[in-house]
Amino acid sequence: MKSYIYCKSKISSCWKALLAAVIMISMSTVVVAHASNNIQKAATDSVPNLQNGLAKTPPMGWNSWNAFHTHIDEQQIKDVADAMATNGLKDAGYKYLIIDDAWLDMQRNKKGQLIGDPKRFPDGIKALADYIHSKGLKFGIYESAGTKTCAGYPGSLHHEKEDAQTFAKWGVDYLKLDNCYNQGVSYIKRYAGMERDLIATGRPIVFSICEWGRKDPYQWAPKIGNMWRTTGDIQDNWHSVMIILDQQVGLYKYAGPGHWNDPDMLEVGNGGMTTTEYKAHFSLWSILAAPLIAGNDLRHMSDATKSILENKDVIAVDQDHKGVQGHKVLDHGDQEVWVKPLADGSEAVLLLNRGSEGAFMTVTAEKAGLKKAVYYKMKDLWSKRTKRTDDLIRAYVRSHGVAMFRVWPESN
Ligand code: GLA
Repeated sequence: MKSYIYCKSKISSCWKALLAAVIMISMSTVVVAHASNNIQKAATDSVPNLQNGLAKTPPMGWNSWNAFHTHIDEQQIKDVADAMATNGLKDAGYKYLIIDDAWLDMQRNKKGQLIGDPKRFPDGIKALADYIHSKGLKFGIYESAGTKTCAGYPGSLHHEKEDAQTFAKWGVDYLKLDNCYNQGVSYIKRYAGMERDLIATGRPIVFSICEWGRKDPYQWAPKIGNMWRTTGDIQDNWHSVMIILDQQVGLYKYAGPGHWNDPDMLEVGNGGMTTTEYKAHFSLWSILAAPLIAGNDLRHMSDATKSILENKDVIAVDQDHKGVQGHKVLDHGDQEVWVKPLADGSEAVLLLNRGSEGAFMTVTAEKAGLKKAVYYKMKDLWSKRTKRTDDLIRAYVRSHGVAMFRVWPESN
């Protein structure tokens, strides 16, 4: 039997019935969403606030996944550590070197402990951690809050205590905990459980929750972790960067010193985007106060990639100790303006052109949220040019590009 409704006229009672149905469905969705938020809040109420004192500014580092996926080994990671310590990245603030999925052996040892793959990591993970520390860097590792990692290696679910102790013994400074094979066990149980066991080791370990933004992590993760993924996996293309950007709208209120929204790791330098697009990607992540985790092969970095990842002015926006995530103040379709208030009273202002043609873009100081001033001093964070303006912040912005300024209100 056909069950659809067919309405001929706009004002027919049939349309009114349809409208009423739509309103009822939307109301019930709101009620369900509200109830689910309450459940999440209630679930985290019993969890003590994370007080590991870490990540006062968004963590910066490098992770193996975007460049190497599962193809990682000891020598390659040591070479990356050497490169990171000497090519300017460490000096620019990148300090965590994180090995992602596939560092593990397929089985735990006889004592039930995790061990590195003996073929690819013959000296063991502790020796690798020592090497990384000897370069003045910090060591990060990946695991999953499930029975397996996404690539099928042993997971930490139901082994949290012994795994946290293993990590602490090895000298791990940062743990990324993924969400694969989670067996439907509640995220609070899984992630708060690991947090408790990490804290119990007494070692300061940045806790990075990788739950892909599935269960509104910004509602519960700030109490549990130092950062939480707000999205699925980034891809090395402009479309992916724009999808992720759109998913960040409205999340700024959940971030702050010690706890950050994580729109996933950087793709800068991996070859799938133009230099203009990579500059935009990096600038956007900085205005979002996102963790800046480079994901390219640091052993072979072009000058263009280096100049993006090491742009100190843009990094300073990300790392600003006021710790406020930027937000969107204007949206004219392809043209958007994002701003981020900074500790010295200045503001970062980013003009984004998503369109396929270059465009002149303008925003007033007031619309950008700047306090009233006699004039404004502006620094272009890419060209490094400075200028004065009475009111308008204006720039020609390339297709898929940004103009990014730091703007200081001046009164004399
Ligand atoms: C998931 C994560 C990625 C990466 C892979 C590893 O997809 O979201 O960031 O860690 O697993 O398998």
